[in-house]
Amino acid sequence: MIMMEQNQENQLSSIPRIGDKAPEFNAISAQGEINFPRDYEGKWIILFSHPADFTPVCTSEFMTFAKREPEFTALNCQLVGLSIDRLFSHIAWLRTIKEKIEFKGMKHIEVKFPLIEDITMEIAAKYGMIQPGESATKAVRAVFFIDPKGIVRALIYYPLSTGRNFNELKRALIAMQTADAYNIATPADWEPGDEVIVPPAGSCGVANERMETMEEGVTCYDWFFCTKKLTLEQVNNPPKFNA
Ligand code: BEZ
Repeated sequence: MIMMEQNQENQLSSIPRIGDKAPEFNAISAQGEINFPRDYEGKWIILFSHPADFTPVCTSEFMTFAKREPEFTALNCQLVGLSIDRLFSHIAWLRTIKEKIEFKGMKHIEVKFPLIEDITMEIAAKYGMIQPGESATKAVRAVFFIDPKGIVRALIYYPLSTGRNFNELKRALIAMQTADAYNIATPADWEPGDEVIVPPAGSCGVANERMETMEEGVTCYDWFFCTKKLTLEQVNNPPKFNA
């Protein structure tokens, strides 16, 4: 009995880690059936959970994400939402948002990205979205960034009470795409157009070499900390979307 409870607990708290293959699943969404992540191969995916339909913080988040969806599409990124509500609840909630809710200048907002029904909590369990200390019956606000090869690249979790910052989600996505495209890393509070770090953390030998040869355009603060300019133009036009 205790073993069974432990297994259940382990299942509920198993969280995919950075570098793991994104757990696969089939699901029904308000926009039809989904084979995840296969349907989105070649794209970045932001898979995010919300605690419940017809709740205020979630409504503000959905309106914001739907309004800003074109910005994520332009970054080759597919948004996919999930909660442990039923499909009819999703459909009714999205219709209410579109027909009745006006918030911060947003109105008639149509959510076009898939919103998955997960009434059995199977998918939420695979992604560690049920965190019983916070709620045993609702998914926390989880955000998974999955790259075009289906690998988990970042994850962020928020409690039920805290609405997400969509500027930060977009910034983190661009930072990862930029790191991949230019083989660099991004410093604290980096914004597109700011200096970037070369080479990525862990390649100190290369940094030593650079100190000796003083590569043009590179500023070194010490042997382990070098930056260079990467223009907004370069960030906006990466050589390719890759992983
Ligand atoms: C909300 O989205 O407003 C919410 C959902 C669950 C618990 C608390 C707040």
